[in-house]
Amino acid sequence: MVIERMAVVGAGQMGGGIAQVAAQAGIEVLLTDATPELARRGQERIGAALAKLVEKGKMSAGDRTALLSRIKPVDRVEDCGRAQLLIEAVAEVESVKREIFQRADAVLPPEALLASNTSSISITKLAAATKRPEKFVGMHFMNPPPVMQLIEIIRALQTGDATYRAVVELAKRFGKTTVTAKDRPGFVVNRILIPLLNEACFALEEGLATAEDIDTGVKLGLNHPMGPLTLADFIGLDTCLFIAEVLHRELGDDKYRPAPVLRQYVAAGWLGRKTGRGFYDYSASK
Ligand code: CAA
Repeated sequence: MVIERMAVVGAGQMGGGIAQVAAQAGIEVLLTDATPELARRGQERIGAALAKLVEKGKMSAGDRTALLSRIKPVDRVEDCGRAQLLIEAVAEVESVKREIFQRADAVLPPEALLASNTSSISITKLAAATKRPEKFVGMHFMNPPPVMQLIEIIRALQTGDATYRAVVELAKRFGKTTVTAKDRPGFVVNRILIPLLNEACFALEEGLATAEDIDTGVKLGLNHPMGPLTLADFIGLDTCLFIAEVLHRELGDDKYRPAPVLRQYVAAGWLGRKTGRGFYDYSASK
């Protein structure tokens, strides 16, 4: 199946970024969220990100207008009936995701595909909540989607070969590289990343070094673009904790136990960049 019309549910940082990537590849995108206002704001944020590219001379004003015209905010999932593929990118709450897929199932044509951008919820479980489990797949984009090169493709137990091939082909049209993961906790990237970030939290807690030195050590010593504590703040400490809990619970090994400092920061509402405070203070840049 060649995908020309897509829907993205969730117009936040991930969903908006996915919509931008798809529109950049010439695909028509319907963008929706919990309220029409959120979908509209999502499109505005994409417009602002593209304006920066125009300012830097990386995109023409005409291309920006054309790209934005391919992204149409719509009020509800029920308005996405023309999509050949729906990608869900909402918060990591299984019940909310299930409800979205059930509503999508009711309005999308039978041949349409469903994908989740979840970073840690079982694709097999989500697929089982729909009437088209063989047409269900995981497409895990990295943050920020327009910049990051990778998309993890996760095959649920039920994912059909045609579904898998269609999304790998689509990722190529996006100009991305794919890796294929089995449906296991954390898939590939978070199985490896979250223990790294969690270990940085333990190191901080033990007083091994300052937050700045832990970050500089990894950034310059390992050539990572961001140190682990900066990256945890960037991802959101609540998201990091959620994934760490999934790894700990579902792999059943104490080596994945979340660091107490991570739990404490989340309890305090210090969730990283999005709240202006995490391991670092972002209040000045807000
Ligand atoms: N569309 C297109 N291009 C964009 C863009 C957008 N919306 N936003 C930024 N860019 C471009 C910029 O124009 C810039 O390009 P040039 O370097 O050619 O000028 C480039 O992206 C970098 O942007 P910035 O200059 O604003 O910022 P930076 O150089 O500080 O880089 C970063 C920011 C890309 C985030 C970099 O710090 C980085 O790679 N960090 C690590 C990110 C990472 O590891 N992400 C994965 C997180 S894990 C995950 O997502 C999985 C999960 O489930 C938790």
